[in-house]
Amino acid sequence: MSSDRGFAGRVTLAITGASGVQYGLRLLQCLLAQNQQVLLMVSKAAQVVIATETDLKLPGSPDAMEHFLTEQYGVMAGQLCVFGREQWMAPVASGSGAPSAMVVCPCSTGTLSAIACGASNNLIERAADVALKERRQLILVPREAPYSEIHLEHMLKLTRMGSVIIPASPGFYHRPQSVEDMVDFVVARILSQLGLEQALLPRWGEALIQGG
Ligand SMILES: Cc1cc2nc3c(=O)[nH]c(=O)nc-3n(C[C@H](O)[C@H](O)[C@H](O)COP(=O)(O)O)c2cc1C
Repeated sequence: MSSDRGFAGRVTLAITGASGVQYGLRLLQCLLAQNQQVLLMVSKAAQVVIATETDLKLPGSPDAMEHFLTEQYGVMAGQLCVFGREQWMAPVASGSGAPSAMVVCPCSTGTLSAIACGASNNLIERAADVALKERRQLILVPREAPYSEIHLEHMLKLTRMGSVIIPASPGFYHRPQSVEDMVDFVVARILSQLGLEQALLPRWGEALIQGG
């Protein structure tokens, strides 16, 4: 399926300040490689986590970040659009402009709480609120350990509203050889939920079918 802008589709991606920003960055790379237009938001806390957990020197302003990541991933201008925390005129802030799917990866417990309560105090929270009110796809990838009753209540509430919770907890049955393999395990789950092809991980049972 081709969108009118020449992209295969359009996805909103928010990276928030939970540990595991590698999941969000790898997802971004995979979405762009599949010719998806990505409307990206990176929270202030996520920028701190990115600086802590990766070697990426991500500029702070949305315009500079967009330019940097467009070069980093070698995509055409316009495929990746970065929006700031109070950029209320962004497409994601309204049901008439927002894509049909949004992923928050990783999702901090702070943003989880704000989404569950409909706070809409920044563009990430507003975009998620739009996804909920419009009954669109909202995928959340929380990471915390242990989870408190509050966190679990928020996840249950959002699941009941139709959101999908994909915990940032990789499996090990594919015998990961690297951190990248473990990251790909979670990213493969997200891509599958979005209905996109993924070659990061064999589907369950595939080896049996090929072997038989
Ligand atoms: C290095 C680092 C790691 C963090 N890890 C987590 C985490 O795993 N889960 C979480 O919910 N918050 C974590 N936090 C705290 C959040 O970043 C903090 O609550 C922040 O207010 C979240 O803001 P945001 O939702 O706007 O991104 C971490 C913070 C830092 C600096």
